[in-house]
Formats: sequence, structure tokens, C-alpha cells
Amino acid sequence: MADIRSAYTDSVNFFGSCSPRELAERFGTPLYVYSEKILRKCCRELVSMCSVPGFGVNYSVKANSNPALLKIAREEGVTVDAMSPGELHMDLLAGFDADSILYISNNISPAEMRNAIDHKLLVSVDSLSQLDMYGRFNPGGKVMVRFNPGIGAGHHKKVITAGKETKFGVCPEDYDSVVALLAKYNLTLAGVNQHIGSLFMQADGYVQAAEVLLHLIDAMPESMRAAIEVIDFGGGFGIPYHKYENEPRLDLAALGAGLDALLGAWREKSGYSGRFLVEPGRYVAAECGLVLGSVEAVKNNGPRRYVGTDIGFNVLQRPVMYGSFHDVEIYGADQAERPVMEQTLVGNICESGDILAKERLWPEMREGDVVAMLDAGAYGFSMSSSYNTRCLAAEVLITEAGEARLIRRRQTLDDLTAALV
Ligand code: LLP
Repeated sequence: MADIRSAYTDSVNFFGSCSPRELAERFGTPLYVYSEKILRKCCRELVSMCSVPGFGVNYSVKANSNPALLKIAREEGVTVDAMSPGELHMDLLAGFDADSILYISNNISPAEMRNAIDHKLLVSVDSLSQLDMYGRFNPGGKVMVRFNPGIGAGHHKKVITAGKETKFGVCPEDYDSVVALLAKYNLTLAGVNQHIGSLFMQADGYVQAAEVLLHLIDAMPESMRAAIEVIDFGGGFGIPYHKYENEPRLDLAALGAGLDALLGAWREKSGYSGRFLVEPGRYVAAECGLVLGSVEAVKNNGPRRYVGTDIGFNVLQRPVMYGSFHDVEIYGADQAERPVMEQTLVGNICESGDILAKERLWPEMREGDVVAMLDAGAYGFSMSSSYNTRCLAAEVLITEAGEARLIRRRQTLDDLTAALV
């Protein structure tokens, strides 16, 4: 039993014909590993969840913008957003055209606004001042506005993006000022969007928030309503991070049925023939990815046993930033029986808070073991940094044929110094 704790990845044949220890040896650690099969499955589940005409899945690429993964999503019929010139660059590299990219902006500079307009993207603005900027740069153009529906949701206060405690969205109270700015610059309101927050596991709140957005459209004058082509309800679809406790999945069938009923009836009543979008990030990318690390040192400090790895919070930030839970697998360096004990998994960053998983019961980890933090495909690599002047990790894709393909090489010291002048 070289794999000490691997029931989850075994059950989904995550590594194909490779083994995690071979991958660690061949590509080094820390190493992000993605399963093409799981990525395609998640995309397919989303694309087929709702049968209302015009329904589409717009992947929020902030979760993971590696173009190799974006290309797979594109093949599965998913479109994308961009929030920065970098994300736009990745979308274009992956072969998306302007019609398949929504620019969902927040506090962007004049240069960035011009860049999005020059690329002929539909831009969503989320404040009156940015609507004014858009109007000055592209009078007579089409624009989207992000509204704040007043109800937020999320796994942590840092990811709730609606309600009063957030910088996002135009409040419904400012609706008249939006109309005035549209008129001032002869703009067409071509779409509305919202995003209530990240990681909900129950369908009802999302469907209720979608209804709020539709009511806002209902209240518009007919001429304005008729010009709307895109209604985007945002993302936030949760995934079960507690894999070893069989945490239930978000009931996508129930969510789809709720949207079918709501959007179907509304489409009928309003005569709307445009697109309805959902904008998941995590649901697309989280479960297809994990990050492998090496156990470099173990130590006892009083009652606590620390297992030191090369997965610092520069590599995977979520546990430190939000206290997020990621399940852990252990691929042993030896075949010995391992006693189960309480252990704390930490990284190699010079901060006491560099803790990946605290006081959990696992088989004893030893130097030379390879470990995985599961469900790290979303907001894993994309939130990683060079803190402590460490190189960014490499990324590998396990293809549908089960083989490993390098999709991002590990950064080098030369990469770290490339921008110095
Ligand atoms: N649409 C908009 C406008 C967003 O701001 C976001 C995420 C999404 C869609 C996708 O949300 P998702 O479906 O992935 O929940 N770093 C945090 C999550 C922050 C999400 C920010 N916005 C985490 O690791 O949990």
C-alpha cells in the first residue's frame, strides 16, 4: 500500500496511467495536476443543467485561466469572462472570439476600459463613475450594468459580493442615475448582471436572486427592456470540499429545474429572446485540480505534530485567506503500516499562519511522502504568488488518454528577475 490515503482519487481514476509519486519525481513539487476527464464532466453538467432557450455557461476564468484548460472548456460549449487585460489575453490565446467574452469590470483604469472597447467586447460596468467613463470613450455603444441585488451569500465574508458590505454593483437606488447616463451618452443597455457571492450549496437562494434581477428588468420602460440581449445571474455554485466525509453535492438538477421554471415563464411573459447566463468559476475548475507537495520535514512541538511541506500559502492561499478546508491525500514513501494521529500540515513560508490543515487525524506522514491538497483547481494556481521570492509552481494535465502533459513549466530564477531593470 504505497498510497496511504488515496481512496478519492482512486475512485475517479484521477491520475490515469500515471501515479502521483511518478509525477512528483518527473515534474517536481509543488505541482498542480488537472484531470481533463473531470474538467469536461463538470462543463457538461453545467451546460446541460437548464433547457431554456438562450441558456449558456460563462466560465469565470479568475478561478483558473490556464489556456490549456480554457480550450477544453471552449470545446465543451462554455463561454468566458475577463476581468483584466491578463485574463483577456488568456481567453484570446485559448481561441475565444469577442462574442464569447464578457468583460466584467470593477474599478478599471481608462487604459483598461479602452482596451476592452478596442477588443469589441461587451463591457459590464459596476458603478456610475465607470458608466460615465464608458460613455465618454464609446458614446452610442452597447454596455452592461452590474446591479447589486441587495442579497449576498458566500462561504466567507470576503467572498460575499452583494448587499451593503461590498464594493460591487450599482445599487437599485441609483437606477435613475443609470438611465440618465445612458441617455447622456446615447448608450444602449444591452445587458444586466449580478453575482451574489461564492460557494452556495443550496439552489433556492440563487433562484430567488435571479428573480430579483428579472423584476428589475420588468420595471424598466419597454424601449429599454427590448434592447437587453444578455441577462447574467453570476456564479457561486459550490462544490463539496469534504471528499472523505462524502459531503453532498450541490443539487444541480434542482437548480436547473428552478431556473427552467423561472426563466421559461419569464421568457414567455416578456417575449425575451436573448441569452441567460450563469457564471460559475469554482464549479468548472475546482474538482479537476489538485496540488501535489513533498513532505520535507516532520517535528513534534509539545503536543502538536507538524508536517512540513513545500505547499506554502504562496502556492495555495485559500486555507490561510479564508480558513478553507481542502481534503488531503498521502502517497507513502514506504510500505509500512502507519498509526493514525493528529497532525498539522504546514508550508515552508516564513509565517506562523502558513497552515494548510490544522490538527487533523491522518495516518502518520513521513519525510519523503508526497501529499495532495484536493479540489485546488479553482483559486489555487490563480491566487498563487512569489512570496518569499519563490518560483511559481508547474501545471500538468492528465489527458483523457491518461497521460501527463506539462501545460505550464515551473518558474525559474531567471523568470523572477526578468522584469528587473
Ligand atoms: N462572477 C463574478 C462577477 C465574480 O466576481 C466571481 C467570483 C464569479 C463569477 C465566480 O464565482 P464562483 O462560481 O467561482 O464562486 N477566491 C475565492 C473566491 C472569490 C470569487 C471572486 N469572484 C475562493 O477561493 O473561494
